[in-house]
Amino acid sequence: MAYIEVKHNTKTYPSGETTVDANHDISFEIEKGQLVIILGSSGAGKSTLLNILGGMDTNTSGQVIIDGHDIALYSRKELTAYRRNDVGFVFQFYNLVPNLTAKENVELASQIVKESMDAEQALASVGLADRTGNFPAQLSGGEQQRVAIARAIAKKPKLLLCDEPTGALDYETGKQVVQILQDMSRKDGSTVIIVTHNAALAPIGDQVIHIHDGQVKQIDRQDHPADIASLEW
Ligand SMILES: Nc1ncnc2c1ncn2[C@@H]1O[C@H](COP(=O)(O)OP(=O)(O)O)[C@@H](O)[C@H]1O
Ligand SMILES: [Mg+2]
Repeated sequence: MAYIEVKHNTKTYPSGETTVDANHDISFEIEKGQLVIILGSSGAGKSTLLNILGGMDTNTSGQVIIDGHDIALYSRKELTAYRRNDVGFVFQFYNLVPNLTAKENVELASQIVKESMDAEQALASVGLADRTGNFPAQLSGGEQQRVAIARAIAKKPKLLLCDEPTGALDYETGKQVVQILQDMSRKDGSTVIIVTHNAALAPIGDQVIHIHDGQVKQIDRQDHPADIASLEW
């Protein structure tokens, strides 16, 4: 059994008199430690899918099996525990708390789980050992995103979910952030899912899942993913 198995996942939203399937009969599998790119244009249904995988939203039908458990069957309470203990999130606009330092932002996440990574160690792993006392406003966009990644990994999540993590960053800074995410999968064995509309990121994934109009159009398995240094966008 694969680490993640999504089977016939559908999410239907009401839309005026009718309904819209933001996800329609989506199925795929992800192995532990893979870096997966979910690629699609705006409105394709990527965030809906990521939010379902992260237990932030529930689907309308289908199975969402994570490490042997179908989270689509979880109660609200079980979903809260799943989000807290098993999932790390990274968003496009960082979502840091402005009046807490980098270290305090990371501690906010690490303190809520039992088996956490030390906040300073998490910040060091994203190259910010010397910025732990800085507030978000004193950091560049790329540095703020690295704090957000440190906050996500400090929980030692089973699954790291990233929604457009380079969307607000310039090219070089975006590459640094993606490099950190690829290293997490390659060196630490973390399972990392990156949602993006940027096709230039596709070569770095062990797997690329193409989403269009709420459906899987194509899945590419890449035995030799590209190194970040070779990317151009
Ligand atoms: N809460 C919601 N209520 C109604 N429609 C929604 C809601 N969230 C998303 N949608 C619709 O679902 C579709 C997919 O949205 P989304 O998953 O955000 O796409 P993406 O992240 O790929 O841009 C869009 O048509 C969007 O308008
Ligand atoms: Mg989105």
